[in-house]
Amino acid sequence: MAVTAQTKLDARKLRADFPIFEQEIRGKPLAYLDSAVSSHKPRQVLDKLRTFYETSYANVHRGVYTLSEIATAEYEGAREKVAQFVNAPDARELIFTHGATESINLVAYAWGLDNLGPGDVVVVTELEHHSNFVPWQYIAKRTGATFTAIPLDEHGELRLDALDEIKRLGTIKVVANNLVSNALGTINPVERLAAWAHDQGAIMVVDAAQAAPHHAIDVQQLDCDFLAFSSHKMCGPTSVGALWGRASLLEAMAPFNLGGHMIRSVTLEETTWGQLPYKFEAGTQPIAEAVGFGAAVDYINDIGIGAIEEHERELLVYALERLADVPGFVGYNHLVQHRGDPSARRGAGSRHGRRRDPRRPPLLPAADDQARRRRDQSRELLPVHNPGGDRPARRRPAQGP
Ligand SMILES: Cc1ncc(COP(=O)(O)O)c(C=O)c1O
Repeated sequence: MAVTAQTKLDARKLRADFPIFEQEIRGKPLAYLDSAVSSHKPRQVLDKLRTFYETSYANVHRGVYTLSEIATAEYEGAREKVAQFVNAPDARELIFTHGATESINLVAYAWGLDNLGPGDVVVVTELEHHSNFVPWQYIAKRTGATFTAIPLDEHGELRLDALDEIKRLGTIKVVANNLVSNALGTINPVERLAAWAHDQGAIMVVDAAQAAPHHAIDVQQLDCDFLAFSSHKMCGPTSVGALWGRASLLEAMAPFNLGGHMIRSVTLEETTWGQLPYKFEAGTQPIAEAVGFGAAVDYINDIGIGAIEEHERELLVYALERLADVPGFVGYNHLVQHRGDPSARRGAGSRHGRRRDPRRPPLLPAADDQARRRRDQSRELLPVHNPGGDRPARRRPAQGP
């Protein structure tokens, strides 16, 4: 992906793009700190949705009249933008879904049911969101495959030294990992995992739901096979997301949902499927939302993903400085340990060479709040800066946004 020089972002100016911030709540200007769960929408996206509905709306790919052609062009234009955002080699490899969760389920069902069986191994990590954990656990169970997770070290980093042991469990068929963790903000070594997965003959599935709004994504550089993300976390509408997949894999896969525009021909005896990407887009799609997703990509590109990343790094450094004064503060991951310097990450966790205590429960996505609390209390903590030092340190839950 071409790297362009980014101008520094102007947070105050950007704030004015978001109508939600024009209100006060309890007499104070609205502060919103939950964007990792779902972000608010700038005027540019809201205007696009409104204009599309007011001037261009019709169903797509199924009408030979002007409005349908305009709507189809807008929808396909959005696909081009979203595909380029992750540097997809071909826009037909970009499938609109209802979000990252559906994208991952699509791969787990449509690829997994036909390619997994006893003796095969599905590898996730202890750092996964439920959406990249439960579908794989379920499909592994249904197909008789083994399901396992790469453990974390005490810094919240993946223990890649465990891969040799995992290899002995059987034939590695799937490696599924998030690019940026929703729990710790860790940027995971997906390129290394993809290389390892391919060495084993496995596919590499990347959950980029938390990466997409904050971090440049290049599927060719990551050398992954599938990548999932959601519009609503990146200033776009809800109910739409994307799955990028290698054409060769997508073409060989059975469809996920059936009906509507995904068919080529239907007879009583047999139905054949349409070309990519339509084969995986059954029924009426979230058309306006996909168009709004394209506008959100434009919005982020206009700011510059590099400028966003740098701004967030500055916020992190500032937050760490202030949090250091809070008695009992405990921080995790390489960014915390290196004061927001991402270049210091590699090997930061492993330098100490400590292995996780096998008696300690792994950091699994918490099934419920109580279980999460029990698990959090049972984990040993790594104080990063703890001048007060007298309060019991608590770990934050794995399942976040
Ligand atoms: C890392 C990660 N993966 C997947 C998801 C699921 O995304 P969605 O709810 O948009 O399908 C989330 C949502 O918080 C997430 O943080």
